[in-house]
Amino acid sequence: MKEARGIQYQDRREAPIGVFDSGVGGLTVVREILRQLPAEGITYFGDTARVPYGSKSRETIVRYSRQIIRFLMTRGVKAIVVACNTVSAYALEELRPEVEVPIIGVVKPGAKMAASVTRNGKIGVIGTEGTIGSGIYTSFLRELRPDIQVLGKACPLFVPLAEEGWLEGEVPMLVAKSYLTKLRHSGIDTLILGCTHYPLLRPAIAEVMGPEVTLVNPAYETAVSLRSLLQEQRLDKQGAEEGKAPLCEFFVSDAAEWFNRFAGRILPTGIANTRQIPIEEY
Ligand code: DGL
Repeated sequence: MKEARGIQYQDRREAPIGVFDSGVGGLTVVREILRQLPAEGITYFGDTARVPYGSKSRETIVRYSRQIIRFLMTRGVKAIVVACNTVSAYALEELRPEVEVPIIGVVKPGAKMAASVTRNGKIGVIGTEGTIGSGIYTSFLRELRPDIQVLGKACPLFVPLAEEGWLEGEVPMLVAKSYLTKLRHSGIDTLILGCTHYPLLRPAIAEVMGPEVTLVNPAYETAVSLRSLLQEQRLDKQGAEEGKAPLCEFFVSDAAEWFNRFAGRILPTGIANTRQIPIEEY
């Protein structure tokens, strides 16, 4: 196992934020962080060799996440955003005591936002088998509002579609219809996109759910929580240098070229610097 030692920043505020997911899905969270916190640098890891996480066991997810966190720590990150609902559901609380920097997930912020958006108290959640099976959204939502009714639905095929970049057209529509038609007629007024890959399929999901259902992307509220956390801990970067974009680095466990191309479709600026790393060695 590699030593969790590597880059060290003299001024902690200058260090990047570590963000990770099983693959490209976490880029939907990076997009939101860059929008809300434009001065911050990002070190992203996408576990493209081992995606999907959604159908794997808790033990495996904890093991993978531990390796990724060790890797991110070697890059000197000042905070970590778990941009994956499955990891947030299965591994976050177990790993939190082991991590020396502040770490947040996407589930709590997503639940908070949905609870404030719903008018009739009926909320749908879509996510991986792992996230839906864990019942984590229901627990957080009921803590916020005990009367809330939650309907969960696992939509595992959305992840390979997103990883393939097959985001529009007949096939995503068919898959969306078959997963979501029942939910559409269930009386929910809010639907949480409880997997970071799903905002990539938003057009198909929105079309099936219709205009009466508000889609909640937890990425927005996650970036809001991240900002408060950085400010509280005095870790927020003090303004970007004029004309100098913050450093964003991307790492994957496989297929770096494909990731570069795909990221260009999601992020405001294209990327060309993705590097492949042997994550099993961490
Ligand atoms: N994007 C991840 C999530 O938010 C995981 C998807 C997967 O790998 O199955 O849950």
